[in-house]
Amino acid sequence: MHPLLNIAVGAARSAGNLIMRHYDRVDELRVHTKQRNDFVTEVDRSAEARIIEHIHRANPNHAILGEETGASGDDEVVWIIDPLDGTTNFLHQFPQFAVSIGIQVRGKLEHGVVYNPYSQELYTASRGAGAALDGRRIRVSRANSLEGALIGTGFPFRDDQDVDGYIAMFSEIMRKTAGVRRAGAAALDLAFVAAGRLDGFWELGLKPWDMAAGIVLVREAGGMVGEMSGRGDPMNSGNIVVGNPKVYEALGGTIMRHLRTKKPS
Ligand code: IPD
Ligand code: CA
Ligand code: CA
Repeated sequence: MHPLLNIAVGAARSAGNLIMRHYDRVDELRVHTKQRNDFVTEVDRSAEARIIEHIHRANPNHAILGEETGASGDDEVVWIIDPLDGTTNFLHQFPQFAVSIGIQVRGKLEHGVVYNPYSQELYTASRGAGAALDGRRIRVSRANSLEGALIGTGFPFRDDQDVDGYIAMFSEIMRKTAGVRRAGAAALDLAFVAAGRLDGFWELGLKPWDMAAGIVLVREAGGMVGEMSGRGDPMNSGNIVVGNPKVYEALGGTIMRHLRTKKPS
C-alpha cells in the first residue's frame, strides 16, 4: 500500500471510531433540535480535526481541503476530506454514512479511501494500482445497458437547483432501468459503483469532498467518470455521472439529452 494511502486508512478508521462513539446517542439528542445540530456539527468537526491531526503528524506541510475547515496550506499534495458523508442518515441511525478522504498530487487525484464505520467496510484505491474492498480487488459491474441496471442518484436539495430538470432525467432513467436508489451518502454511492453493487450513479451539485475519493475508486475499478455535459471535470462543476463503460455511456447520453432539451427559464 502506498504510504499516503496508508495514512489515509489510519485517519479514516480513527475518525470512524469517533463517529461510532456518538452513534448510540443520536436518538437522545434528536429530541432537542438545536442540540442535535450542534452535536452533529461537533462530530463532523472533531472527526475532521482527527483526520487532519493524522495527516500533519506524518506530513506537516500537506495542504487540506476539508468540508468543515475549508482550504488551508499550500503544497502539491492536497487532502480532500469529508469527515462524515451522509449526515442526515447518521442523524436517523440509517447506517449508510462514511468517512471520505481523497489525495490530490499536483492537481491529479491519486488515492482514495471511503470507510463506512458502521459496517466497517473499507474501500481503497491508488491510481494505477486498482481498487479494493477490505483488501480484496473490486471491479465495476458487467451490465451491458440500462435495461436491468441498478442506478444510484442523489436528489437536489438546495434552493438554487433545477428540480424539474432533475425529475425529467429521473423519470426517464427510472423507466429504463431495474431501479434507482437514493441511499444518501455520495461517497458510498461511488464506492458501490466501484464494487459493482450499482451499475451507475449521477448527481448534480456535489462538492469536491463528496467525490474525490470515490472518483479514484470508480476509475481504478475500471469505471468511467464524467461531467453531465460530457465535457469538463465533475470536481469543478459538481455534476457527476459514473458507471461501468456501457452504463456510463447510456446514462450520460440520457442525461445530456435532457440538458439539451432544457428550456430557458
Ligand atoms: C451529502 C451526501 C448526500 C448528497 C449531498 C451531500 P453530507 O453529504 O453525500 O448523499 O446527496 O449532496 O451533500 O452533507 O452528508 O456530507
Ligand atoms: Ca458529503
Ligand atoms: Ca459531510
